[in-house]
Amino acid sequence: MSGSIILGIESSCDDTSAAIISGNKILSNVAANQEIHNEYGGVVPELASRAHQQNIIPVVEKAFSKANIQQNDICAIGFTRGPGLLGSLLVGTSFAKSLAMSLDVPLIEVNHLQAHILAHFIDDANPTSPTFPFLCLTVSGGHTMIVLVKDYFGMEIIGKTIDDAAGEAFDKIGKIFDLDYPAGPIIDKLAKEGNPDAFQFNKPRMENYDYSFSGIKTSVLYFIQKEVRKNPDFIKENLNDLCASVQKSIIEILMNKLEKASVDLNIKDVAIAGGVSANSALRKAMENNQEKLGWNIFIPKFEYTTDNAAMIAMVAKLKYERGEFTDIRTTATAKYDL
Ligand code: KG4
Ligand code: ZN
Repeated sequence: MSGSIILGIESSCDDTSAAIISGNKILSNVAANQEIHNEYGGVVPELASRAHQQNIIPVVEKAFSKANIQQNDICAIGFTRGPGLLGSLLVGTSFAKSLAMSLDVPLIEVNHLQAHILAHFIDDANPTSPTFPFLCLTVSGGHTMIVLVKDYFGMEIIGKTIDDAAGEAFDKIGKIFDLDYPAGPIIDKLAKEGNPDAFQFNKPRMENYDYSFSGIKTSVLYFIQKEVRKNPDFIKENLNDLCASVQKSIIEILMNKLEKASVDLNIKDVAIAGGVSANSALRKAMENNQEKLGWNIFIPKFEYTTDNAAMIAMVAKLKYERGEFTDIRTTATAKYDL
């Protein structure tokens, strides 16, 4: 086995994940999703940390066995220190610290948001990796931001949401439509059979590269309340068109600012990252800009879009090469700037 072999652990929200990386190649990437939250319409922090407790040992064991690696073969352990839900982060952090101590290997803290972006450097994430500087639209359930990536660890947020994240908008609007949590992938699927121009919703007018998604959520809510008063079956009868129209609006909001940033900064390497980058309309809009704006686009493989430990292992590997290790007395942190 060539190169450094590193274990990555992710537990920032509701996915418990472990991955083994060798060089830039992922040998295994295992995740246990927590379906327990579906019935609550969102992640319940207390339940999430309990489920992490249950899942972490089997998930890590599976990551080792799938990679065909022994615990003694690894040279470091990377873990998500933040940002995220504190109770969830504590499980991964404590586990990583204990295992690092028992195996006597260095511990490497990873910023979850950096990891979403640096997932593009995993061997099989893209046909080629982006070149610096590039723009990365990082869109998840908790974050929506345009990041100017000057170097692996030289990142600048040039625009971000002032209220809801784009994934949160998908999820909250899905709740209005009575869809399960997380609604993003369900809306994506239902939108495929719908007319994206059937309904129009208010778009925010934000300065610079900043975003706002609470307005569209309220606009959908008021519209639905009005229509349901007239016809109680309105949602059911128009679900595909509603999903397609909402999706179109959210993607247009996201893309307008990204396109503006690309033109203003004259950067043509443009990437997307985070859970919402799994969205098919966003992927299509990126593809259209290859020709329209001459973009070189970077869209991660599906398994590297939503929360996963492969991206954590990737960052740990980059830090390992730089000798950037973390003191064993470190603690998890809910807020963690890029
Ligand atoms: O990155 P992620 O797994 O977790 C966070 O760090 O938040 O992102 C989860 C978010 C959820 O809001 C989910 O609804 C959204 O990503 N999402 C999608 C799709 N797949 C996941 N949103 C729209 N379309 C999708 N296909
Ligand atoms: Zn995430």
